[in-house]
Amino acid sequence: MSQHLLVTGGCGFIGSNFIRFVLEQRPDWQITNLDSLTYSGNGENLADVADLDQYHFVHGDIRDDELVKQLIEKTDAIIHFAAESHVDRSILDSKPFIESNVLGTQVLLDAARRKEDYRFIHISTDEVYGDLPLDRPDLLFTEDSPICTHSPYSASKAASDLLVGAYHHTFGLNMNITRCSNNFGPYQFPEKVIPLFVTNLIENEKVPLYGDGSNIRDWLHVIDHCEAILAVFEKGTSGEVYNISGNNERSNLELTGAILDAMGKGKDMIRPVEDRLGHDRRYAIDASKIKTQLGWEPTRSAWPQALEQTVQWYITHATWWQRVKTGEYRTYYQKQYG
Ligand code: NAD
Ligand code: TYD
Repeated sequence: MSQHLLVTGGCGFIGSNFIRFVLEQRPDWQITNLDSLTYSGNGENLADVADLDQYHFVHGDIRDDELVKQLIEKTDAIIHFAAESHVDRSILDSKPFIESNVLGTQVLLDAARRKEDYRFIHISTDEVYGDLPLDRPDLLFTEDSPICTHSPYSASKAASDLLVGAYHHTFGLNMNITRCSNNFGPYQFPEKVIPLFVTNLIENEKVPLYGDGSNIRDWLHVIDHCEAILAVFEKGTSGEVYNISGNNERSNLELTGAILDAMGKGKDMIRPVEDRLGHDRRYAIDASKIKTQLGWEPTRSAWPQALEQTVQWYITHATWWQRVKTGEYRTYYQKQYG
């Protein structure tokens, strides 16, 4: 059945990939993208679809009750990506994280619960489960693992997850929560580790590796993630949480080595820097629920191919990330939309 989706945060990394993916996979659907264009929101991420009849951009904030009410009235479902998303920024200043991630989600929930059977897909993170010890590779986060957050970022995401669950329990909101591992792929803001390291190396700058590099992340290709979200939207049972993983655990040292190899650079390009405060040791997800219940598993996340393709994307899209790094991308919105 044709759908009109309200996507929040669609000018960011995952949201822009999701919009392009859905426009390709479901060409008769409509998408309205609500984004306030914070530092990480970039209209250029969707320049190739901006003129399609099925795509509508609204420049606005998820905390704007009136605007949100109008947009929910016009649409069938929300895929909620909008958030402050960078752990390091949350350590420097947590206020925007509470404002967008917690208060913003509450505004969306209040509007959604008033529209009958409005579907609400909340995009969350494995970071809400805290971290796992490095010497216990047998341990994985399941959907039943306790919420145990460590950074202001993950605390704000967990608060929003709990609100979504509360609206399901109290008001019968038709919802799912997805919790995914670290994403990689095209259009990621170049302050996250993979695009930061790749673009530094292209510019012949060293890569700042936190601590001893032993921390482990599970890397999921962004298009695998988009496919999983679409599966949850179309087939998920209301009220359920689904973990999404790339089945691809790597230490930061291993990740850095793989990037250096893909770019023909040596270990001398690593600059060890002071560790992140409260740095989570290991994230690792058991994603068997989404596999058995919805038939989804990752097909694009395997290394080295997926990492090499991503490195190549940044090499061949230098204009995109240079405009982000210099701040020029901010003029795009003015030019495109007046
Ligand atoms: P991003 O920072 O690239 O994009 C966030 C987008 O949200 C931007 O376009 C920004 O302008 C918009 N936004 C922020 N506050 C807003 C507000 N108040 N109103 C309207 N728009 C607002 O983030 P991302 O990496 O694409 O992450 C998207 C979602 O996925 C987030 O909810 C994040 O917590 C979650 N997530 C990301 C990862 C990852 O590896 N990137 C992993 C797990 C979960
Ligand atoms: P990041 O991309 O910020 O994602 P997250 O903190 O949400 O997992 O970081 C991924 C890993 O890379 C994390 O363990 C921290 C590490 N890292 C560095 O070593 N150096 C850096 O400059 C950055 C940004 C991250």
